[in-house]
Formats: sequence, C-alpha cells, structure tokens
Amino acid sequence: MTHELAKVDPEIHRAIQSELARQRDNLELIASENFTSRAVLEAQGSVLTNKYAEGLPGRRYYGGCEFVDVVEELAIERLRQLFGAEHANVQPHAGAPANTAVYLAVLNPGDTVLGMDLTHGGHLTHGHPLNISGRYFNFIPYGVARQSELLDYEAVEALARRFKPKLIVAGASAYPRYIDFARLGDIAEAHGALFMVDMAHIAGLVAAKEHPNPVPHADFVTTTTHKTLRGPRGGAILCRAKFAKAIDQAVFPGLQGGPLMHVIAAKAVAFREAATEEFRQYQRRVKLNAARLAAVLTERGLRLVSGGTDNHLLLIDVTAGRLAGRGLTGALAEDILAGVNITVNLNTIPFDAKPPKVASGIRIGTPAVTTRGMGEREMTVIGNLIADVLLDPESETVTTRTRAKVAELCRAFPLYPGLGGASE
Ligand SMILES: Cc1ncc(COP(=O)(O)O)c(C=O)c1O
Repeated sequence: MTHELAKVDPEIHRAIQSELARQRDNLELIASENFTSRAVLEAQGSVLTNKYAEGLPGRRYYGGCEFVDVVEELAIERLRQLFGAEHANVQPHAGAPANTAVYLAVLNPGDTVLGMDLTHGGHLTHGHPLNISGRYFNFIPYGVARQSELLDYEAVEALARRFKPKLIVAGASAYPRYIDFARLGDIAEAHGALFMVDMAHIAGLVAAKEHPNPVPHADFVTTTTHKTLRGPRGGAILCRAKFAKAIDQAVFPGLQGGPLMHVIAAKAVAFREAATEEFRQYQRRVKLNAARLAAVLTERGLRLVSGGTDNHLLLIDVTAGRLAGRGLTGALAEDILAGVNITVNLNTIPFDAKPPKVASGIRIGTPAVTTRGMGEREMTVIGNLIADVLLDPESETVTTRTRAKVAELCRAFPLYPGLGGASE
C-alpha cells in the first residue's frame, strides 16, 4: 500500500512519512489525541471507502450493501453493549456533526439550551456564537465556581429554573474533574428539559468504568471515537429507544449523505478493543498517569485548575504559582514546550482575562503517551521536564538536556514498530 503511494504520489507519501516520524519523535500530550491500533488503521484504509450505503443496515438506498451491513450492524451492537445504551447511530462523521444531529432532532431554531461555557471547558458545538449551535439556538452558558473551579451545579439548577431550557448539554473539552451526570439529569428532569451528554473526551474512561457512565441518566449521549476511546477519527450517538427514529433521521437525511463505511469498520474494531481487559487496564493507567503528572507539577509549584485531576487531563495555569509574574501565556508555553518536542495545546482557564488564542493555560493529557506504554515513572520524568523548561525557558542547558531526555523516552517506547518509516 505505502509502496504504491510512494510511486503514485511521492509528495503525499513524504508528508505521511514525516508525520509518522513526528508522532514517533515527540511526546504527545494533547488531551484529545491518541494512537489507534494497527487493526484500526487497516480497517480504515480498506476498500470499504469505495461503497455508497445511504440508509441503515437492511434499509439502504443502494445495492450491494450486504457486507457493509455486516460491518455497521456489528459497530452498532458493540457500541450499544459497551455503554449499555438502548439505541446507537455510528454514522456521524465526527463529534461536531453528532452534536448537531441531536440539536436537529429535538430543537427548533431559537430554542433555549444550557451548555457549558467555552472558557470554562465547554466545546464550540455547545453554543459558540460562530458555530451553528450558537447561531441557530439560544445557548445560555453555565460554568464552574470561581473558588473551587468545580462545576457549579447549583448555578445550573438556578439557570434551568429561570430559563426553562428545552435541552441541557453537559460534557467538556477541558474539564479535569468527574461530571455528576446523575445530578444534572435530575435537574433536567425537574425542569422539563431533555438531557444530552457529550462524552467525547472521556468515552474511553467510561467504557472502562473509570468514569461514571452518563448513559443511564441522559436522553442522548454523543461522542467522538478518536480521543480516549482510541478509535478512528469519527463520531457516534447513543440515545433512549424513544428517540431512535428522530436521531437516525437527523443524521441521514437530516445532516449527512452516505456514511463513511471504512471509518465505521474502524469504529467497530475500536469498540471491540474497548471491551477487552487490556483496554480497561490501559484506561486505569491513563488516569494514574494523569494523577502522577498532576502531583509532580504541583510539587514543583505550578498551579493546576481545580487543584488536580480525576480523569485523563489537567490544566496548568501558566500565570500563577511559581510561574506568576513571568509574562507567560498559554500560547508562549505551548511554543516553549514545542521547542523541546513536547506537544500540548494552549487553553483558556476559567475566568481567563486573556483571549482564547493567547489564553492563560495549557491543557495536558495522558492518553497518547500511555498508549505508547509509558507509566507513572515516566510521568515523574515528564512532569519535571515540563516544569524545568517553563521555569527556565531561556536556558540553553535546560533546553538541550530536555530535548535529549524526550528523545530517550520516545526511543524507549516505540510507536508503531513495524510500520516502516525513516526512524526505524
Ligand atoms: C467535548 C467535545 N465535543 C465534540 C468535539 C468535536 O469533535 P470533532 O472534532 O470530531 O468534530 C470535541 C473535539 O475536540 C470535544 O472536545
């Protein structure tokens, strides 16, 4: 396959090889990224990409769907079982369309929705003014309490009482603590709202029972398949049986055309992998690693939003603790770490005074490095490397030493051995 690509399109081949080398040679700490298995890559790179299959298994608008039907039925059934859901749709091309499909299924333009404030950890699709969610619906933000930086459930209840929303959306891209779905579900029920949970970030932890499962409490649960869940880039929706038809119709023909059957095959593989004991152990390590990283950073005097983590990610406030008064921003910290081959992303922190592209924080996640096999010992090393460079970004000695240490870690925990490429 790769051999053919090198012949037909050397430029694209070279870019892919360079990306493989980049993934191998950097410490990937972006909380929303992961490395899929070779089996997932293989399914996604298969001939299923050639097939049109508008509709659902057994009810297609095209002939020749007998084998893609097998694939999609397996994907649906595995996903349903993994999370204990009544109904599943595996066709959303990504997390954003999964969320939009739920809105399309149950809202009318102008309807009121409660969603988590973006600067407190919510996602674009939870009401950003430039996103379809914020443009077509009346999203009202809720957030965390200023002192604890934990979700302010009482404020959610007060907003629900005041605004009588049609839908409450929970879930986040940058919230390091457990979310109490039972409590939010009760608030929604008490105020006559539907309840949707976007578990994109934590789906892998939920599958492994390392985070409370939103499915029993929510009318709809959306997810991406490529973050902690470690599948291909994609989305999915779970819902109560009574919403099955509305959700299926919102995805197709409401929002999308033909499903990406090669991606659905890769999702099915990932769901199978996520049901294994190996995956449960992996998720346990993801959490232990995040906790270890948090402990080291705190010991080194850095301030973490909410003081720590319950899940796979943490947020460093680069304007406080020992980093205070150094003129650091999230953007600068991201650049400094990129300079030593540690990849993170800038992130706003609650009540951030800086604009989103500058921000006062960086977000750090452990799913990808844990997939490489790194454990708590390595997290101690990485936490100290991060603190070393952020506390002394001008030092050539620190930079050189850190780069060498990162290279050593990457060599000791090889990524995709056997996949070829320059660094093998
Ligand atoms: C909570 C949450 N929901 C939805 C999405 C959107 O997913 P996608 O980028 O696949 O559209 C993300 C992605 O970062 C996310 O963090």
